[in-house]
Amino acid sequence: MNDKIEILRKKQEEALLGGGKARIESQHKKGKLTARERLHFLLDEGSFEEIGMLVMHRSTDFGMEKERYPGDGVVTGYGTINGRLVYVFSQDFSVFGGSLSETHAEKICKIMDLAMKNGAPVIGLNDSGGARIQEGVVSLGGYADIFYKNTMASGVVPQLSAIMGPCAGGAVYSPAITDFVLMVENTSYMFVTGPNVVKTVTHEIVSSEDLGGASAHSTKSGVTHFACSNELDAINHIKKLLGYMPQNCEENTPAYAYEPGDELRLKLNDIIPENNSQPYDIREVITELADEASFLEVHKDFAENIVVGFARLAGRSIGIVANQPAFLAGVLDINSSVKGARFVRFCDSFNIPLLVLEDVPGFLPGTDQEWNAIITNGAKLLYAFCEATVPRITVITRKAYGGAYDVMNSKHIGADMNYAWPSAEIAVMGAKGAAEIIFKKEIAAADDPNASWIEKEKEYSDIFANPYRAAERGFIDEVIEPSETRKKLIKAFKMLENKVVNNPRKKHGNIPL
Ligand code: HXC
Repeated sequence: MNDKIEILRKKQEEALLGGGKARIESQHKKGKLTARERLHFLLDEGSFEEIGMLVMHRSTDFGMEKERYPGDGVVTGYGTINGRLVYVFSQDFSVFGGSLSETHAEKICKIMDLAMKNGAPVIGLNDSGGARIQEGVVSLGGYADIFYKNTMASGVVPQLSAIMGPCAGGAVYSPAITDFVLMVENTSYMFVTGPNVVKTVTHEIVSSEDLGGASAHSTKSGVTHFACSNELDAINHIKKLLGYMPQNCEENTPAYAYEPGDELRLKLNDIIPENNSQPYDIREVITELADEASFLEVHKDFAENIVVGFARLAGRSIGIVANQPAFLAGVLDINSSVKGARFVRFCDSFNIPLLVLEDVPGFLPGTDQEWNAIITNGAKLLYAFCEATVPRITVITRKAYGGAYDVMNSKHIGADMNYAWPSAEIAVMGAKGAAEIIFKKEIAAADDPNASWIEKEKEYSDIFANPYRAAERGFIDEVIEPSETRKKLIKAFKMLENKVVNNPRKKHGNIPL
């Protein structure tokens, strides 16, 4: 038996070395951790159980039968993060550049199957040269198997992808289907076609970093939700994110210890500026409303006119969608609509109640927006709210104008509780523009058109630049003092805890894509 155990140990040692010491050193020299080091930092100490450590590729072309490494370029298994089960795969760049072979793909699919059967999140740490070139179509098939499983798992268990090195070609579509993508600044990149192909086809000269680095994808494309300063930062973000999520779509979010105390937040009474076209930072409102230091912003640097992220209220997770008056006056446009819609759908998939903070002057006008389909894209946010069945609360802090009033989780599209601050203005448009249209003739005929315009503006403003017309109709459930908002929200979300809504039975809806 001892001899046999010795053989096993040797094989295990060999697997632990991946592609060998020299390649591990080369990985470190690039400022990158190895696949196993990443798992060491990600998972609770001693919790990792590896699956498929001795799996090897079956390729025989190009002399591949002589070059085989146990594990075949990906470390897979399960472990815990803060005591909660997760399934993981971590690509090992030291073995054929982490490239994806048939067996490498099988290992990933195996843990995804286990995750779905047992209802726990899947975390992928990506660091790969893409399809294993020596294997050809077999490798492409492996990718497709993963894409299919990603799609089947979508909405069943949370899926998180951290990009820790290259992720190119069709390989990008696995992370893209998952719920959250994290990238590491300067050492990771994602693109469908790299700089060389770009140069050949479009004659553009661009570096990998500029084309598909963390900065490009966190600010311009929105492909990544988090640009992390280094690998440990990315790993910490994963742990934090999971803390807001349930294990699967059948479970509730984790509850954190919370001591009820004085929930009055007097500072909120002073946040809205006297002048209604002056900006303020909606994050200040969020910080006051949420449990201390509990707000985790998602997509921070993309479409900054809407703020989305997770927070806790009395120890329970909520998803926040908030217009940001400090950026483009909080207007809704294509990118902010898509950003908001994706976040709403994630929260709804995983039983995370939604809080909407509304201060929106409307949709952004212009040819750029119209020709790039603000109609279809704005409809995504509308659709996402309409179909969401989680508890939904809206607080109108200031402007709720036009179609944006309807879209931002209005009572009419299924919100459970709608509050407004006394500073709320709920109207078809701002008073100045409204007066100009409906009193056009009177203003033109007046001795002093300017004075007449100001008078008519006041008339419109007195009627609609407040929350009371909406409150009379019951579209607003209660007009509240800002300082009382946190208290009201804690009570209302508790009241909605057992909400059950069943949308009509269907195969699936057809969200305008
Ligand atoms: C097999 C690969 C590989 C691959 C890298 N290697 N990519 N082996 N298949 N796709 C191997 C290299 O031969 C090398 O082996 C080791 O990994 C490290 O690669 P280097 O080139 O030395 O590393 P580096 O300079 O850091 O460059 C990394 C890289 C480059 C940018 C990823 O290797 C590269 O461009 N690889 C090819 C990328 C690619 O075109 N892949 C196919 C994309 S299409 P040794 O033995 O020297 O250590 C695709 C389609 C997916 O993926 C479709 C899904 C639908």
